[in-house]
Amino acid sequence: MGCRGGTRLPLVRRLCFVVVLLCASCLCSILPYANAKRTPPPPPSVKPKAPPSPSPSQVVPAPVPPYPALPVRAVCLGGWLVTEGWILPPLFDGIPNKDLLDGTQVQFKSALRKTYITADQGGGGAVLANRTQASDWETFKLWRINETTFNFRTSGGQFVGIGASDGIIVATATAPALPETFQIVRCPFDKNRVRIKAANGYFVQGIATGEVIADYGEPTRWSDWDASVFLMTKVGQQLQGEYQLCNGYGTDKAAPVLRDHWSTYIVEDDFKFIASSGLTAVRIPVGWWIASDPNPPAPYVGGSLQALDNAFKWAEKYKLGVIIDLHAAPGSQNPWEHSSSRDGTQEWGTTDANIAQTVQVIDFLASRYATSPSLFAVELMNEPLAPRATLDSLTRYYRDGYNAVRKHSPTAYVVMSNRLGISSANSTELLPFAGGFQGAVIDVHYYTMFNKMFDNFTVQQNIDFVRTNFSGELAAVTTQNGPLTFVGEWVAEWKVPNATKEDYQKYATAQMNAYGQATFGWSYWTVKNANNHWDLEWMIKNGYINLKG
Ligand SMILES: *[C@@H]1O[C@H](CO)[C@@H](O)[C@H](O)[C@H]1NC(C)=O
Ligand SMILES: *[C@@H]1O[C@H](CO)[C@@H](O)[C@H](O)[C@H]1NC(C)=O
Ligand SMILES: *[C@@H]1O[C@H](CO)[C@@H](O)[C@H](O)[C@H]1NC(C)=O
Ligand SMILES: *[C@@H]1O[C@H](CO)[C@@H](O)[C@H](O)[C@H]1NC(C)=O
Ligand SMILES: *[C@@H]1O[C@H](CO)[C@@H](O)[C@H](O)[C@H]1NC(C)=O
Ligand SMILES: *[C@@H]1O[C@H](CO)[C@@H](O)[C@H](O)[C@H]1NC(C)=O
Repeated sequence: MGCRGGTRLPLVRRLCFVVVLLCASCLCSILPYANAKRTPPPPPSVKPKAPPSPSPSQVVPAPVPPYPALPVRAVCLGGWLVTEGWILPPLFDGIPNKDLLDGTQVQFKSALRKTYITADQGGGGAVLANRTQASDWETFKLWRINETTFNFRTSGGQFVGIGASDGIIVATATAPALPETFQIVRCPFDKNRVRIKAANGYFVQGIATGEVIADYGEPTRWSDWDASVFLMTKVGQQLQGEYQLCNGYGTDKAAPVLRDHWSTYIVEDDFKFIASSGLTAVRIPVGWWIASDPNPPAPYVGGSLQALDNAFKWAEKYKLGVIIDLHAAPGSQNPWEHSSSRDGTQEWGTTDANIAQTVQVIDFLASRYATSPSLFAVELMNEPLAPRATLDSLTRYYRDGYNAVRKHSPTAYVVMSNRLGISSANSTELLPFAGGFQGAVIDVHYYTMFNKMFDNFTVQQNIDFVRTNFSGELAAVTTQNGPLTFVGEWVAEWKVPNATKEDYQKYATAQMNAYGQATFGWSYWTVKNANNHWDLEWMIKNGYINLKG
């Protein structure tokens, strides 16, 4: 990379400065031979005592000890550089047709025939309209082109489009092009009553034989007698992640929205507050596109790297450690919005090129921040989901990612996340592997939320579950000579209705006591949130959590 970007950013400049210093000291040792008249360098005795160097060729400066002591007490800066709609809903407010974002699942029922548009067999062949019940084959995921124009993806992964014969609709394309593009025209007085205009300019209708064809050219009065009118139903949970935000606005309009968000949502005062509250580190989720700043691929917006630079500057000022967390990997390592999945599909790790691209992102981040004393850890990936993320691809990636960090930093911890969603929940599967790396950390996340089992738990049952089950699981992962352990996400929130402040205080304390066993530490999810109990600043300011007592 060299020092080409010297005018860009302070850290790059600092890196260049270090290189210049190193070069200068090389020159100093060479110059006395080249130019005898030169004043000799000052004696080295002014330097503080350094440990004996293992080899004279070593030019790496002695590592600056990272700020926090183990175990850390950290907070996640969620919803900042990787957006999630529920953390800050207003970010999405300015999107036109904001209920039709990428990944939104829709079903279309003919107003006239009362049958659903179906990708027969889930896709790969005919599109029909002869079923009266809707399930997977009748459900389509939107890919948004703009506020009115979309592709429809079948449950099998193909795209709906106009086939070779005139206007007949099929689901055979593996990638969308013009024939797979449809306009959704909404009725002015009922937005879920729609017509679907195909690329040939005609509206789609289901005909009596069950076939679906784009050949309807008449205007409409939106009545049930119009064969081109469909009742649109949205099903499942809508994704509201970085992809949906950027593509929902379109990159040009998303840019000012996100730049404003990056510079106002988390500011220096937050770092000051975090440090003064007794926390010692921040875990910062980032997306893979930050490595191509300032020109990330569409639809992502450039400029988030400046925000991360600021975070390091403030962390240094307030003596906080930074755990950089690759929260969204290319292709998405889980189907959720926080991995920036476009439509809920999970493609990370399915090719060698994809893994290599992810390693490049880690290399970029480690190289950029290696000289900051606040670079405490690099988390190679958040929440990979089994079985789609295989143990084999994950450990190959963790090995290469670890080496990419070590290439730049001898001291930063390297965090490896356990896979989620293994039916037999083998939380120790990474131990033999991770135990082989100096400075490796295993990340586990504990919530009494995302499982039906917790739906009717009482206050005491939640507390007991933390003290017994999570505590036991953490103890099983925390081994004598194995990797360090990190409860990288937890929250004092549950399914208990109408719990009192005292209940929340007890729950938070029980968790901090249990997760205090983690040898690397813990991190609360999140620092700021539209929901009070998920907002650690709110919890501290309102006396629900006290880290100084
Ligand atoms: C719909 O049409 C397809 C193809 O002709 C046929 O295989 C299927 O059984 C039909 N389904 C219903 C519910 O009529
Ligand atoms: C959306 O895209 C379609 C197809 O490219 C285009 O015809 C239409 O004008 C666009 N609409 C808007 C609002 O940009
Ligand atoms: C979980 O993984 C560990 C480490 O590979 C292995 O020793 C153990 O047998 C596994 N447990 C189960 C239940 O598969
Ligand atoms: C929780 O309680 C409700 C109401 O009693 C019940 O319908 C539901 O099945 C319970 N859920 C679980 C997971 O036990
Ligand atoms: C939680 O721990 C208790 C006590 O050891 C045990 O009976 C129960 O099965 C555990 N629950 C789960 C879901 O593992
Ligand atoms: C919780 O509080 C709400 C509003 O005060 C009340 O309507 C509801 O019945 C309460 N729920 C329980 C389980 O006590």
